[in-house]
Amino acid sequence: MSLLSPVEGWYSKKVSKDEKMWIAISFALCVILFVWMVLWHVFGNQNPSNTTYRTSPAEYIKLYEAYVKKNSRGNDNGIPVVMPEPNSDVIMLAQMWRWSPVLILKKDEWYNIHLSSADLLHGFSLQPVNMNFMVFPGYDYVLRFRPNAVGEYKVLCNEFCGIGHHTMIGKIVVIENEADLEKYGYTKDKLSAPNTATAVTDTTTAATTGEMAEAEMVKAGEQLYALKGCNACHKLDGTNQLAPSFKGLWNTTAKVKENGQEKEMLIDEAYVQSSILTPQKHITVGFEQTIMPTMPVTEDEIKQLTAFIKSQKN
Ligand code: CUA
Repeated sequence: MSLLSPVEGWYSKKVSKDEKMWIAISFALCVILFVWMVLWHVFGNQNPSNTTYRTSPAEYIKLYEAYVKKNSRGNDNGIPVVMPEPNSDVIMLAQMWRWSPVLILKKDEWYNIHLSSADLLHGFSLQPVNMNFMVFPGYDYVLRFRPNAVGEYKVLCNEFCGIGHHTMIGKIVVIENEADLEKYGYTKDKLSAPNTATAVTDTTTAATTGEMAEAEMVKAGEQLYALKGCNACHKLDGTNQLAPSFKGLWNTTAKVKENGQEKEMLIDEAYVQSSILTPQKHITVGFEQTIMPTMPVTEDEIKQLTAFIKSQKN
């Protein structure tokens, strides 16, 4: 309610000249700003817009796993390393709590980088160049991307995504030629030759035929541990920051919460299987804040992962 009520008939009164002028000026300003919304996109040095496809986490994880199995050249701190061909499609996955794979790209070459999330909203923030994208699960974002400066770049997550958010740091290395690789710690013995790293595929095939020795099972399990991202939380050195370390875990008793009730459970085959397939069913006491995602896994993969956990002695 205003203090003074307007005089009768104010609405039908003629608008004065300067008032008309101001209406014209503000209208022109609106139109200019509106046009600049579009122009700024072209001239304003904005983050590029991207093509987006509908997908599902399960579908995208499958795509990512096949891509990494085929193109992995080794590991960098447990994260698969891929050196994609220029102009190829690169499949990158955001998950709680890591970016995978590590990319080695060539300067001045184009790449189609696909981004999606396996679980919840993450933020792709390329530093120090400060390119930012939101990465929702269920969408496949394609960035046409041409690095124009060599160096090591970090991919930070800039959307708060839970207790391990601060550990979610990925890596993109841009090189001029292969000789630069050593500068970034990728020595010859650390990176395998392209298309020879088919060990995961090979062992998986062997597993399905039931011809796998224990040592091979452990090896396959170790590769799955890196591929599926278990290593983002479950460490092998006994540190229990985000989730129980696998070191010396086998055959011990875990204090867990099931339906709000605390109980003790032996860590054996059945326990591991249930933890992978229904991670929320029983949660180790002390790690209630860590939400373990449900990963698509086959029975053989569970067996291999179990063998790997078993092999992590004290
Ligand atoms: Cu992912 Cu924060």
